[in-house]
Amino acid sequence: MKHLISPLDLSLQELDHILSLGQNILQHPEQYAHVCDGKKLATLFYEPSTRTRLSFEAAMLNLGGSVLGFSSADSSSASKGESVADTIRVISSYADICAMRHPKEGAPTVAAMHSEIPVINAGDGGHNHPTQTLTDLLTIKTLTGRLDHMTIGMCGDLKFGRTVHSLINAMVRYPGVRFILISPDELRIPDYLRQEVLIDGNIDFIETNELEKYMPELDILYMTRVQRERFFNEEDYIRLKDSFILDAQKMQYAKKDMYVLHPLPRVNEIATEVDKDPRAVYFKQAKFGVYVRMALIMTLLGLDK
Ligand code: CP
Repeated sequence: MKHLISPLDLSLQELDHILSLGQNILQHPEQYAHVCDGKKLATLFYEPSTRTRLSFEAAMLNLGGSVLGFSSADSSSASKGESVADTIRVISSYADICAMRHPKEGAPTVAAMHSEIPVINAGDGGHNHPTQTLTDLLTIKTLTGRLDHMTIGMCGDLKFGRTVHSLINAMVRYPGVRFILISPDELRIPDYLRQEVLIDGNIDFIETNELEKYMPELDILYMTRVQRERFFNEEDYIRLKDSFILDAQKMQYAKKDMYVLHPLPRVNEIATEVDKDPRAVYFKQAKFGVYVRMALIMTLLGLDK
């Protein structure tokens, strides 16, 4: 049995398989309408979500399966003190596969240790968000035709942004990838990521707080929200939240074939005027999340052959 806790749990071959399957589902969704007949997905969400939870549910329903679960810790027995380990032991006899989001880093790992069904990390604290990464990779590959030899700008909260951490970990495995990491000084990437992944991996990267300067070099601009829920201090959040706002004027500096991605939700960091620019693909990206999660569910259940 395989779980997905980090993007690195998948070999490059497995990753390519899931992305290819996702692209095939995108083109021929009707062929997959009964692959999971009789199967159940449990969505165990201890933290708020719109896209991840609902796209997992849509994915399982599209495959002919069923879904059950909870959407907040308050509406589960976690509010009475039940541990993640006990919860997953019970859920293992109710469902065939589960997706878990939890505010504590490592909670899905604990679940996987006690589970009899595949556990998918749907986001754990500021740590990892591997299915967002699969979504991002499917979007980039489908729109540009490649995952290698590109310059990726990541902008916003690079310290707490689990989508950023997961995407960097995934993209460094492709040749010729270069990162421009754009953030306020306080929200730079964590030290372990800078040292162990980028420096030790001999990856080309720049840390800066200048968005406009680097716009013309980017193939992808990955915007992120400054996450209020990760700050200990409201004053720091207010000071930093509008550090970078992408607008139509800044888009003029970008290449004609650059794409703007964002895991969403957005707050202020992309002006709504950018939405009508054909290079703004974040809503398309959210749609791709359903197809790649269909591919992942099929793969983890061994129904992808
Ligand atoms: N991208 C993402 O994780 O969105 P949600 O928090 O709405 O699930």
